[in-house]
Amino acid sequence: MMQIDFTDKSYLVTGGAGTGVGAGICEAISDCGGTLLLNDLDVVKTKIAAEKYPKAHAIVGDISNAKDVGRIFREIKEKYGLVHGLVNNAGIGLHKNAHLVEESEFDNLYKIDVKGVWLMARAFVKQLMEVDQVGHIVNISSVHARETTARYAIYASAKAAVEGLTRGMSIELGEFGVRCNAVAPGYVDSEQSWDAVASWTDKPKAWIEGQKNDYQSLRHMITARDCGNAVVFLLSHMANSITGQTLTVDAGFTNLLYANSFIPKT
Ligand SMILES: NC(=O)c1ccc[n+]([C@@H]2O[C@H](COP(=O)([O-])OP(=O)(O)OC[C@H]3O[C@@H](n4cnc5c(N)ncnc54)[C@H](O)[C@@H]3O)[C@@H](O)[C@H]2O)c1
Repeated sequence: MMQIDFTDKSYLVTGGAGTGVGAGICEAISDCGGTLLLNDLDVVKTKIAAEKYPKAHAIVGDISNAKDVGRIFREIKEKYGLVHGLVNNAGIGLHKNAHLVEESEFDNLYKIDVKGVWLMARAFVKQLMEVDQVGHIVNISSVHARETTARYAIYASAKAAVEGLTRGMSIELGEFGVRCNAVAPGYVDSEQSWDAVASWTDKPKAWIEGQKNDYQSLRHMITARDCGNAVVFLLSHMANSITGQTLTVDAGFTNLLYANSFIPKT
């Protein structure tokens, strides 16, 4: 029977205490038997999240701060040994027209969504190279990296940068057998997404039904676990010859030229 077995391997998931995509990723890695190194900003939130999984350790720290990133990897090395897989999930959004965005808002988003991803990937690769070991990276992008909409220009550009970093690092790391890929979720059914929808419509349920039925070819909501399963696949031996790629998990959202309602029923 073909299966993914992460027993005896450790996986660092940033923003792992998030109840959205991060939770789906942690759940999928845990179900494959992997040890979770669950990173997030808040001490209590991170500990509570780590307690949900049988083999998990809370790793508190800010991925956008180089000193903190150094400390995170030192702490992991001392307490838990080598990190075999890095999932750069932590990220923030911004819903504002680019010409109205403040410099501080731009800097903050890029610091977490782009610089943080690079800082963590850099430290991850260095600890592998120090001991001549192989591991793999999955960065969480978004459908916004390729197609976007009003008020998402800054977020979209940051996610495009994440995909550029993914492609570039995959080339640099190929000779060491280290693979670097991305997962680009569409609209994921999660608490945070519901809050975001509620900020632009007073009928969030109707908006979500419309999204599902009219703007996706698959008429179900994308779950955080769907994203986690894609991450696990890319981290595993099943993706042995896949690197520098973005796996879109969007239920068919980005392939639709027109909304489903445009097509007459047959
Ligand atoms: N939710 C969606 O529909 C969706 C769609 C596409 C892509 N994404 C991407 O998925 C990822 C997770 O998003 P989510 O919606 O699940 O959000 P979320 O808010 O549930 O999770 C993000 C987590 O990251 C943590 N975090 C933020 N800054 C951090 C930092 N500097 N250091 C460490 N941790 C930090 C937060 O505390 C939070 O727990 C993001 O990269 C996001 O862009 C989400």
